[in-house]
Amino acid sequence: MFTTTDFIPNQYISTVEKGNFEWSAPSNIALVKYWGKKDNQIPANPSVSFTLKNCKTITKLGFTKKSASAEVSGQLSVANEFSFDLLFEGKPKEDFKPKIQKFLERIEIYLPFLKDYHFTIDTQNTFPHSSGIASSASGMAALAMNFMSLERLLNPKMTDDYFYQKASFLARLGSGSACRSVKGNVVVWGNQANIEESSDLYGVEFPYVIHDNFKNYQDTILLVDKGEKQVSSTVGHDLMHNHPYAERRFAQAHENLDQLIAIFESGNLDEFIKVVESEALTLHAMMMTSMPYFILMKPNTLQIINAIWKFRNETHIPVCFTLDAGANVHVLYPESVSQKVLQFIQDELVVFCQNRQYICDQIGDGAIAL
Ligand code: PMV
Repeated sequence: MFTTTDFIPNQYISTVEKGNFEWSAPSNIALVKYWGKKDNQIPANPSVSFTLKNCKTITKLGFTKKSASAEVSGQLSVANEFSFDLLFEGKPKEDFKPKIQKFLERIEIYLPFLKDYHFTIDTQNTFPHSSGIASSASGMAALAMNFMSLERLLNPKMTDDYFYQKASFLARLGSGSACRSVKGNVVVWGNQANIEESSDLYGVEFPYVIHDNFKNYQDTILLVDKGEKQVSSTVGHDLMHNHPYAERRFAQAHENLDQLIAIFESGNLDEFIKVVESEALTLHAMMMTSMPYFILMKPNTLQIINAIWKFRNETHIPVCFTLDAGANVHVLYPESVSQKVLQFIQDELVVFCQNRQYICDQIGDGAIAL
């Protein structure tokens, strides 16, 4: 297990002038939710997620050592400042820059070479821009992978284990849930007594048996509301401080994660559904009982939940829902029933989606070097 100091490098043994990398990193959907944090992006409770496959960010990182670029362009690079251009879908995107600047400031101590280079960060998502699907998890994970590729050039002796766990550690500092978008189908983040190697500092692959029922598990994301959220997750997490139910909620997350260990092994989908739907509704219950209180679900979110419950009661098909910090609904089901569930979605649920839009996704493996 790594500690924070393990991620502060000593001297690098190699040098590199310029080059580029490209990584894709997926989004993920939490089953046990992370909601509430301590300083430095340390989660108040552990969480576990399915890594997605199709919803991802693809980021290209170009880098040029500043002394070399100064010679080429005839300009004097400022040695003690971060220097980067940010492109979104190939076009400059100034309004993303402050977030990246803040990320670089947070991770500089762990990647002390960052001010030595000028970077070009060129990023795009596979999912529609304003779909209400947060791109911060996939985006921060993709960027962290690229920076780790550069660090590996400077330190070629780096092990794979260190490479991925530090990437997850860095991604966490960009956006908490991003640390679960690096490697593995099922990822745990946060200390949990019964899960070996689990850590508050980074995500780890779920280390125990996972039943075949969960192989290629499907996630169809129903786009209920594509608008800007009224309350950001940063504000939402913050409202868990002094929240009247916080302590009980954090304890419950540990209990639910323990239950999932047994459920992943047995493949018991009825029990899986109970934990997952309860987690989703508890997350939103925490929002509704914050001060100030807020609601991110929309009327159509509830219409969909009720329709899923009715369908499940009538057909006994093990389909369930989860929610993230927004109005969209993730419909989760095993691959074996996908035809029937997709038919149901088309017949009964798309009417509740904005412009009838939904995205078909499924469990995936994590970040990929391109
Ligand atoms: O990573 P953040 O700060 O955007 O928080 C994500 C919070 C939830 O999506 C609601 C839950 C989770 O565990 O992903």
